[in-house]
Amino acid sequence: TESDCLKGKKVLVTAGGTQEPLDPVRYLGNRSSGRMGYAVAQALQEAGAETILVSAPTDLPAPQGVRRVSVQTALEMHDAVLENFANLDVVVKAAAVADYRPATQAEQKIKKDGTNRTIELVPNPDILAELGRRKTSQVLIGFAAETENLLANAQEKMHRKNVDLLVANDVTKPGAGFGSLTNIVSFLFPDGRRIDFPQMSKLEVAQNLVGEIANLLGRNKGV
Ligand code: C5P
Repeated sequence: TESDCLKGKKVLVTAGGTQEPLDPVRYLGNRSSGRMGYAVAQALQEAGAETILVSAPTDLPAPQGVRRVSVQTALEMHDAVLENFANLDVVVKAAAVADYRPATQAEQKIKKDGTNRTIELVPNPDILAELGRRKTSQVLIGFAAETENLLANAQEKMHRKNVDLLVANDVTKPGAGFGSLTNIVSFLFPDGRRIDFPQMSKLEVAQNLVGEIANLLGRNKGV
């Protein structure tokens, strides 16, 4: 049935925005609320999947029945995802992962002295791209939050990161993106198929995504 179409499947979802510390009290962050990823974890759980939610800091409660693993930085998220990857059927990377982190982290609070400051940044690993290189039978889903050239950038990411489905959303539209309760998305597939959705709640987006994940899993089994 629809309601338990992912029964027995092991899935992992990442959500929220990573925080990259500068000193004991400051970090570099982003505007992700975690709502989209939390909705995906809820919808997967409701479809019968055994669901792990690797979450950067958010204000949201863990969805019922989901196992939440809390992380702060991109490196912590990387380790939590990679540790589980070999045993998973599906990974959904809805987190807004920092592309860069401060090169050093001060042990004490940085004091102001009236001078200009420069923060040196070093690149974080791209977790999704690494999963794309390592994947065997796993279904990989990525998100692309863009502010310009949405579909072109999303399509490029889908191929570069070797994902099976990319959810593209334009974060500049009202009713879409960071913090919003609703989203406006397109699903892109490597075979060139594209599904454009109207504005809907993030839970409805997540339920549509679960339907596509069930199709992709069925295809992998040769059903
Ligand atoms: O390239 P960009 O960061 O926009 O790609 C977005 C997708 O890649 C999202 O699914 C995000 O979770 C994932 N990502 C990641 N590790 C990073 C950066 C992005 O897994 N360091």
